[in-house]
Amino acid sequence: MENLKQDIQFFEEALKEYKFPNTPRGLFEPVEYLLGIGGKRIRPVLLLAATRLAKGDMNKAIPAALAVELFHNFSLMHDDIMDEALVRRGKKTVHEEYDTNTAILSGDVMLIYAYKLLLDLPDDIIVMANRVFTKMAEEVCVGQQMDMDFETADDVEIMDYLKMIELKTSVLIGASLQLGGIIAGLDESDAFHLYEYGKNIGIAFQIQDDLLDTFGNAETFGKKIGGDILNNKKTYLYLKSMQLLEAQDAIQLKTLFSEYTPNEDQKIAEVKQLFKAANVKVYADELKNEYKALASSHLQAIKTFDTEARAYFQEFSDYLVKRNL
Ligand code: IPE
Ligand code: IPE
Ligand code: MG
Ligand code: MG
Ligand code: MG
Repeated sequence: MENLKQDIQFFEEALKEYKFPNTPRGLFEPVEYLLGIGGKRIRPVLLLAATRLAKGDMNKAIPAALAVELFHNFSLMHDDIMDEALVRRGKKTVHEEYDTNTAILSGDVMLIYAYKLLLDLPDDIIVMANRVFTKMAEEVCVGQQMDMDFETADDVEIMDYLKMIELKTSVLIGASLQLGGIIAGLDESDAFHLYEYGKNIGIAFQIQDDLLDTFGNAETFGKKIGGDILNNKKTYLYLKSMQLLEAQDAIQLKTLFSEYTPNEDQKIAEVKQLFKAANVKVYADELKNEYKALASSHLQAIKTFDTEARAYFQEFSDYLVKRNL
């Protein structure tokens, strides 16, 4: 945990040193606002740690670390508009604190700055880094669209859900690690296993996010509990419960998920009750552990990593899957 804290600290300092233009305030203040209200910084820290533990120079990785955190925050700023979320990191979302037009353009500019930062990487890896980043960015958009489409679809399968979270969430975690590896000069095979490690642990991470969205504590989680339920999100909790519940209960759950109700608290309570009746948390925990094990097998396959490197990422995996924030 000591090394993890140091890596977070290293990133926070780099972020503090990175300056956006002062004007126009309407464009850059919301960017500074969202970056300033916290966040766990897992993507840049995974990237930096990958560089460090593959015996590379962490300073060279700073532009890429900033780029993945900016990309992540861009996606959140727009995601909160799309999900109509009012709270993020325990504070008002950007479109609530400012307005929707602001959240659109300030989000856009973060995406642009992410690409701009990639140009500060060493010349010999710029093109490769750009390819990795662009592939990831396109996939995140596809995953995000699938997530939105699924809200009103009634034929979503668990396999579809898993593909959707792989795209909207995991590929960014995979690409962050891969970029860290590329900067340290890892060969193709090691960089591939690093990506696959991130992709699989990222799937477990999103399942945990979905669990916390329903069963978490609003104070620590920093987002509205029950937001996914109100949006009829086709999470594993919903899809698996539909399989597990008795016919009568399954019909009730499906009915609850076919409407946007004005009585929010009641809907959340009823859906939670049905999830509990299905005992679906146990299944979600099992699924998380399967992906964690898969992630672990790729971690073992990275030739350049020593015992210390593997232990660091193993601990990181535990944190990502068990976190309550
Ligand atoms: C939230 O990501 C969006 C998901 C992909 C689940 P994080 O949980 O990493 O959000 P912050 O940056 O720590 O706030
Ligand atoms: C996050 O999905 C995925 C992206 C931002 C691309 P969620 O909608 O579950 O993220 P939170 O829960 O709002 O952080
Ligand atoms: Mg969303
Ligand atoms: Mg959301
Ligand atoms: Mg979520």
